[in-house]
Amino acid sequence: MPAIVMSNAGSNGAKKFEGKITIYVVICGVIAATGGLMFGYDIGISGGVTSMDDFLEEFFPVVYERKHKAKEDNYCKYDNQGLQLFTSSLYLAALVSSFVASKVCTKHGRRLTMQAASVFFLIGVVLNAAARNIAMLIIGRILLGVGVGFANQAVPLFLSEIAPVHIRGALNILFQLDVTIGIFVANIVNYFVSNIHPWGWRLALGLAGVPATMLCLGSMVIAETPTSLIEREQLMEGLAMLKKIRGTDNVNAEYEEILHACEMARQVKRPFRNLMKRSSRPQLVIAIAMQVFQQFTGINAIMFYAPVLFQTIGFKNDASLLSAVITGIVNVLSTVVSVVLVDKLGRRFLLLEACGQMLITQVAIGGVLLVNLKSTNELEHGVAVWVVVLVCLFVSSFAWSWGPLGWLIPSETFPLATRTAGYAFAVSSNMLFTFVIAQAFLSMMCHLRAGIFFFFAAWIVVMGLFVIFLLPETKNVPIDEMSERVWKRHWFWKRFMDEEEQDKKDSV
Ligand code: BGC
Repeated sequence: MPAIVMSNAGSNGAKKFEGKITIYVVICGVIAATGGLMFGYDIGISGGVTSMDDFLEEFFPVVYERKHKAKEDNYCKYDNQGLQLFTSSLYLAALVSSFVASKVCTKHGRRLTMQAASVFFLIGVVLNAAARNIAMLIIGRILLGVGVGFANQAVPLFLSEIAPVHIRGALNILFQLDVTIGIFVANIVNYFVSNIHPWGWRLALGLAGVPATMLCLGSMVIAETPTSLIEREQLMEGLAMLKKIRGTDNVNAEYEEILHACEMARQVKRPFRNLMKRSSRPQLVIAIAMQVFQQFTGINAIMFYAPVLFQTIGFKNDASLLSAVITGIVNVLSTVVSVVLVDKLGRRFLLLEACGQMLITQVAIGGVLLVNLKSTNELEHGVAVWVVVLVCLFVSSFAWSWGPLGWLIPSETFPLATRTAGYAFAVSSNMLFTFVIAQAFLSMMCHLRAGIFFFFAAWIVVMGLFVIFLLPETKNVPIDEMSERVWKRHWFWKRFMDEEEQDKKDSV
């Protein structure tokens, strides 16, 4: 079914590209998105493993003992820096490696970057599953992190570059959809392996090898993107690949445009330096803010520690993992909602609706726990069920807003010259603040107690104001018309854009 679609690249918006949604493009997209599965599986698995007795007894005996003390403080059971380092070391490694990955991506292509990601990840999986001491655990997690850093840089870029322009948004959110599926699968695995003694946790960590193997084998059969081939001056291969993934020989307009974009990008010798100029400020601030705010919703306090959290507030082991499975399902289904609605209702609507829903649910969870959960009592069953319901309402609003849009908006706001470097910044900001939350959350819960939920609620107010005043709507705006149609017309950001022309002259 050939589809004639509006180019999103021409400044007059009138050029047309011809392209089908070919089976090949769909297969390439599905395979590449398994990088999101790796990321999601990691997010989901560490919380489950760190609440398994066999694992704690072997590596964190102090935590194990405290966990089983009769009168333990409800809010402080698992506060242990070593245990938090297990979870968060991955994100620190991913933060550093995403900068390296952006260079590898440009020099050697997206496909090789994805292959490298799967290899690092697989070695990390082997070390983790076979771990005999904490060093093996942490080194394994670091290698997983390098894999995630490489995959998160290459996969969204790959998806955007191979997608026909009219399904680019949907293909971009496929990455987030796979993240949520990964988290969900990990929650199910946690649930079942927690009853396999004493090596269930090894199985849980080892199964991370499945998505990595899929990506490793899959990346041998998928295409390199035409943009990356042309960028690396393999013009004929780029043209042939473009014809193959579009399912038509009539690709000249798109080919010319990629060629032009690559030439423009080549003129900017130092994209990272360019990014620091005043005229890049609006996009850079938005890209970083979207990621920082995404993490300060408190989502990963729930995702990493859902089993621990539910256990902390009085669920038994299996019940807490089951609750985490339920939140996992809600997360996946609500992401599908985003795929359907994002281009109809717009980014700002989804983000603002979610701010309202997240604010109410965080305050309600905090309130319920403040009243009902003291240091050493247990929550009544009915109250605990309410907490799960509130958590689900919180997760659903995140999943159709800040989750996917945290990745989508930074990918559509930068002009081409700084797009890759800017995106690397967005990825690493995500990792940095994921690390901060992962490292700090359990200690914060120990000190702030139920107040932790009010802490996140306060951030949600800040991000709501940010969206109202500073985030322009980018729905249906062609990507290369952003400067003219969005930034130069925005009441606040336009003052930075006046210098754009001067900066352009400086950088050539
Ligand atoms: C975020 C992760 C989060 C996940 C939840 C992603 O977009 O980057 O930090 O755990 O969504 O689904």
